[in-house]
Amino acid sequence: MTLPSHALESKIWRKPQSAEGGRDCGFKSRRVHMVRCKSGYDPQEDSTMLERYARQCAKGKVLDIGTGSGIQAIAAAQNSSVKSVLAADIQKEVVNYCKKNIKNRRIKFIQSDLFKKIKGKFDTIIFNPPYLPQELKLKDITIEGGKKGYEVIERFLYDVNNFLNPNGIILMVFSSLTKKEKVLEFIRDNLLEFEELEKQHIFFEDIYVCLLRKNELLKKLERRGISNARYLAKGHRGVIFTGLYKNKKIAVKSKNPQSAAVGRIENEAKWLERLNKSKIGPKLLIHDRDYFAYEYIGGDFIIDCLKKSSKGKIKKIIKDIFSQMLALDKLKIDKEEMHHPIKHVIVSKNKPYLIDFERAHYSKSPKNVTQFCQFLMGGYAMEILRGKKIAIDNGRLIQLAKVYKNNPNRANFRKIVDVACK
Ligand SMILES: C[S@@+](CC[C@H](N)C(=O)[O-])C[C@H]1O[C@@H](n2cnc3c(N)ncnc32)[C@H](O)[C@@H]1O
Repeated sequence: MTLPSHALESKIWRKPQSAEGGRDCGFKSRRVHMVRCKSGYDPQEDSTMLERYARQCAKGKVLDIGTGSGIQAIAAAQNSSVKSVLAADIQKEVVNYCKKNIKNRRIKFIQSDLFKKIKGKFDTIIFNPPYLPQELKLKDITIEGGKKGYEVIERFLYDVNNFLNPNGIILMVFSSLTKKEKVLEFIRDNLLEFEELEKQHIFFEDIYVCLLRKNELLKKLERRGISNARYLAKGHRGVIFTGLYKNKKIAVKSKNPQSAAVGRIENEAKWLERLNKSKIGPKLLIHDRDYFAYEYIGGDFIIDCLKKSSKGKIKKIIKDIFSQMLALDKLKIDKEEMHHPIKHVIVSKNKPYLIDFERAHYSKSPKNVTQFCQFLMGGYAMEILRGKKIAIDNGRLIQLAKVYKNNPNRANFRKIVDVACK
């Protein structure tokens, strides 16, 4: 992003250059007496906007990240519902300065790069981050959040949930120069809810103060022992998150809030539970009314796998998928979409896993095997297979698929596999 230099200068302009001795910050309404340190950040408009909410909303155990002058820590400590404040800054010099100059029994200071040296959980986490893009190579960590400006915020939001109590709040400030859409994306991806508390246009930027909370799904997942939940992908009906459960990476599927479909999640969890008994699908771990969690399958979608794998491996994978199709046909379950399974088969360590059972249903004549034949004969797959010197006789496969359709027995199935994997 190319910033107009005057825009970036606005924040620098707002940073007073003289830096000796304590001061009242120049804001008559505040009784906080600030200290100043050469490598620190003198409280600016963003500080004072955030400070008001720190004083009003902070509760319980408070963590002030990037404490700088300590303005947020001091304001939070003024709220009678605050028990203690831990104030952290990446700069040792800033921390030492605060330790020496801020004498408040409820505030402790620590040097830490974001959460690196932080232990425990907090009811309030306050952060006035460095959020300007590093366009002018000023390399000032008090104001610049990285090349794009939002990198420190991204790292903060990635970890913050592990340090926030279920009903805890985050008070954070950022600017329009940080790219609001990006910040909102990180907030959503980490299952947080966003509330804008205040917006002020100052010089060439808008400054936002926001309050973030864990969303209901995140709280539910954490109650079941799932941590590190993060957005992965979105489908028509479901949203997929990743997380950690018993030290293993898992996937969580929940309802896409934009979908009007009812009962799909419960339904899919039931199918997965049933099919796991036939060794189909990733292992179901937990299910609830509005989400289910299953083992995370790290690998490639089928097309990417076909592109990458050798002829021998492709044949093995195709055979394995066919066996799973046969098992489904025998169970009289139609998975649907196997003629276009682009995002419905993940191959991990040469083992194909069927995923997405949203549309699965019982059927007198399921079409899993024949649909998969269709996929192999379709233009996209066919081209890749030809490139790997796997030439399927389409005419013969169509004939055999028809025979199998009328008489879905093992012998007819074998013939299909033989032609497809010749
Ligand atoms: C914009 S200043 C905010 C200072 C003060 N909290 C306020 O509201 O005025 C950002 C502060 O974050 C600190 N900081 C920058 N990167 C950090 C990181 N990775 N971890 C912790 N503190 C960081 C800087 O040293 C600086 O003191």
